[in-house]
Amino acid sequence: MNKLIISGQNKLYGKVEVMSAKNALLPLIASCVLLDFEVGFLNCPKLGDVVVMLDIIKSLGGKYRYDGDTLYVDCSSLYIPELPCELSKKIRASIFLLGPLIARFRRVSAVTPGGCNFGERPIDIHLDSLRQLGVEISGKENLYLRAEKLIGSRIRLPFPSVGVTENLIMASCLADGETVITNCAKEPEIVCLCNFLNKLGAKIVGAGTSKICVEGVKKLTKNFAYYKPITDRVEVGTYLLATLNTGGEVEINGANFLHNVSLIKKIYNNTCKLTFESDKIYLKCCGVGSSLGFIKTGPYPAFPTDLQSPILAYACSLSGKTIIEETVFKNRFSIIPELKKMNADITLQGSKAIVNGKGKLNGAILNANDLRSGAGLIISALGAEGVSEIIGLDIIERGYFDIDKKLRMLGANVTKG
Ligand code: EPZ
Repeated sequence: MNKLIISGQNKLYGKVEVMSAKNALLPLIASCVLLDFEVGFLNCPKLGDVVVMLDIIKSLGGKYRYDGDTLYVDCSSLYIPELPCELSKKIRASIFLLGPLIARFRRVSAVTPGGCNFGERPIDIHLDSLRQLGVEISGKENLYLRAEKLIGSRIRLPFPSVGVTENLIMASCLADGETVITNCAKEPEIVCLCNFLNKLGAKIVGAGTSKICVEGVKKLTKNFAYYKPITDRVEVGTYLLATLNTGGEVEINGANFLHNVSLIKKIYNNTCKLTFESDKIYLKCCGVGSSLGFIKTGPYPAFPTDLQSPILAYACSLSGKTIIEETVFKNRFSIIPELKKMNADITLQGSKAIVNGKGKLNGAILNANDLRSGAGLIISALGAEGVSEIIGLDIIERGYFDIDKKLRMLGANVTKG
């Protein structure tokens, strides 16, 4: 039961609901370490990565429960500042716990995180930034963090890292004095985290810009019971591209089109009609697309690296040439050899993938090497001639809740195998 079997060329028609974003929930759950009371998060999918993060919280002495789609997290009884090795190695986001744990306990034992395997994923910026707040860090594979106290500081990031920005925000919330983070990430997930913390009494300004100022406070207080995270812009983009690749018509409920402007700019052409409401995107295909031109991934608001594999897969079925440059990660093209099994014409030149669209691809037996390349393979299989098998459904379900059910609801011929 760890694969998807897809018989291609069914057009996708209907409505799909997107839920709270994986990459918003993971730092939000980590930030609960700063709290000595329970909070509820609305519209939460039971994603693989989210459950691992919750199990890490549980291993530290915290509690969590789902009531339908509402997730409750309570870290009031947290007492072990030691991150469990096996669970930490499953997800990159375990690194997001360093900041809040050191802020609460002043000492943390941890291991270097795991996560999707698309090349080296160092944590040097995480560690260097925490050191600038007064944290002493020793060890390599096993990390030991200590801090007499956290002292607000001016920190300029060498790269607008999402995780480092989130770690620093959480660590500096309870630090002495003001922390100013420059060249920080501007993703919507950062804004979502800062809105949550400010509602609890934190003093954070500048979220969504490249300069965030955090005035440390003594403690955070329970001013509300529930928080509604932003919805998953990567899931929205994935369903838009899947619909384009099959030629259908879909209404995506819960979508905030303002979070997907870079993708919409790329696909908004004479082959589809797009209309928007505050929490909906309607897409109606009206022709087969040609080239997507040149796409370059980058930190938000540039084109998101998490939609690079999905749009690369879509580009293969167009009739023209598309060039996709990946600038965020060094080696995030694991989808290419799998797409070639479907008769795709792709040449990799350094960090650029040159795609010569050939119209329909052929179904094949494929491997999901990481979360987003797995999503790209689903997009390709949905539009391909014949049947495809995608092995590694568990990897895809780390970031896409009920993807087989949602696609079947839209008319796709998809079964778990
Ligand atoms: C977050 O990962 C997301 N994950 C990723 O989504 C996303 O691709 C990435 O941001 C970029 O948008 C979560 O939010 C859980 P980074 P993160 O630190 O924080 C280098 C998905 O598919 N770097 O912004 O780990 C790093 O190697 C996942 O949902 C260092 O060199 O990404 C990369 O080249 C995949 N040293 C660049 O920065 C560090 O200490 C950007 O990484 C940290 C990062």
